[in-house]
Amino acid sequence: MAEKGLEGIIAATSSICSVDGLEGKLTYRGIDIRILAEKSTFEEVVYFLWHGQMPTRAQLDELSSQLKACRELPAPVLAALRAWPKTANPMDVLRTAVSMLSLYDKDGADTSREASTRIAARLTAQIPTIVAAFHRLRSGLEPLAPDPSLRHAANFLYMLTGEKPSPTAERVFDICLILHADHELNASTFAARVTVATLSDMYSGIVAAIGTLKGPLHGGANTAVMNMLLKIGDLNKVEGAIKEMLANKQRIPGFGHRVYKTWDPRAMWLRQIAEELGKSTGNMKWYTMSRKAEEVVWQEKQLYPNLDFYSASVYYKLGIPPDLFTPIFAISRISGWTAHILEQLADNRLIRPRADYVGPIDQPYVPIEQRTN
Ligand code: ACO
Repeated sequence: MAEKGLEGIIAATSSICSVDGLEGKLTYRGIDIRILAEKSTFEEVVYFLWHGQMPTRAQLDELSSQLKACRELPAPVLAALRAWPKTANPMDVLRTAVSMLSLYDKDGADTSREASTRIAARLTAQIPTIVAAFHRLRSGLEPLAPDPSLRHAANFLYMLTGEKPSPTAERVFDICLILHADHELNASTFAARVTVATLSDMYSGIVAAIGTLKGPLHGGANTAVMNMLLKIGDLNKVEGAIKEMLANKQRIPGFGHRVYKTWDPRAMWLRQIAEELGKSTGNMKWYTMSRKAEEVVWQEKQLYPNLDFYSASVYYKLGIPPDLFTPIFAISRISGWTAHILEQLADNRLIRPRADYVGPIDQPYVPIEQRTN
């Protein structure tokens, strides 16, 4: 008997990330995510995920310099971004642009550890540039060159808005990147591992992952959360709107999780950030609406919020438009995807499960003229 959706199936051995869905505990290589969110930086986490140990100061500086050096896009990719429809879904743009990047990378089809690590650095550096450049172009603005004086999180916010972020905005965004960096065999990471396990290249694995992340049951939920809150629009309407959605058998975006049967620790952290951002800006609207939605969903369905729920109002408070929330997820998750690809390639075997065949058997072949259906 097949497990629908592969629920509970152990499909790989990994030492990158562990999720305890009963205790609500998440670790990257054995370190609690809450400690990393509090003390680390995205660049440090990237190094940790790729190399399996925390960097020394010199190793961290080297990675930071490497990422800064790779931020620019090849001219044909930037030209393509200019040519693509301004109305395009930013996730479709990202998926297509990443695929195009492979054409201009001399390491493109090389699956050695050395080449794959270089590609991982380029993708980690260039994905934010793609997202920011497309957003500016569709807004009628010129893309901005990356600023080498800025770290990863701050540079993205700068390339997006044209303004250097405040220390608070930079730190909040950096924490968001840390919290989204990896999550074991989530759907997009699994897609990436399946793809490279055929000994296809890293770009193909990441294109598969981006396409998988887009769906509203996965990373696309953060955009759906904000669109839902914007549509509801008022604290007093939250209860009625949520109850109506549930009565119509609709899923409430940002709630429920395949693995967590308690609080997702990332959601807890993001809820706190959402509250602090609301207080510091004197606008608690999205936070209070979110808390009300949380209360109603708990009453009606006993579901906990997942990380996409509170990340939505955090990004919105940072001035980011909702359809960029899922690309921002990719800006972070590229670190985990590439770590998993490196791990898969280090000890590869084709991933090829079986299906439980339940269709008809021993059927006759009926000539086309005689078919009546
Ligand atoms: N709203 C309403 N009901 C829900 C929700 C939800 N968000 N999530 C689960 N349920 C209900 C289902 O209707 C089902 O109820 P039933 O047994 O009465 O039919 C029950 O909970 C179990 O749901 P499944 O779909 O079997 O759970 P599964 O583990 O397959 O799904 C998923 C997990 C996809 C995350 C689901 O909870 C969901 O659709 N959530 C909304 C989308 C979302 O937030 N996705 C982001 C996930 S986190 C991430 O990817 C980063």
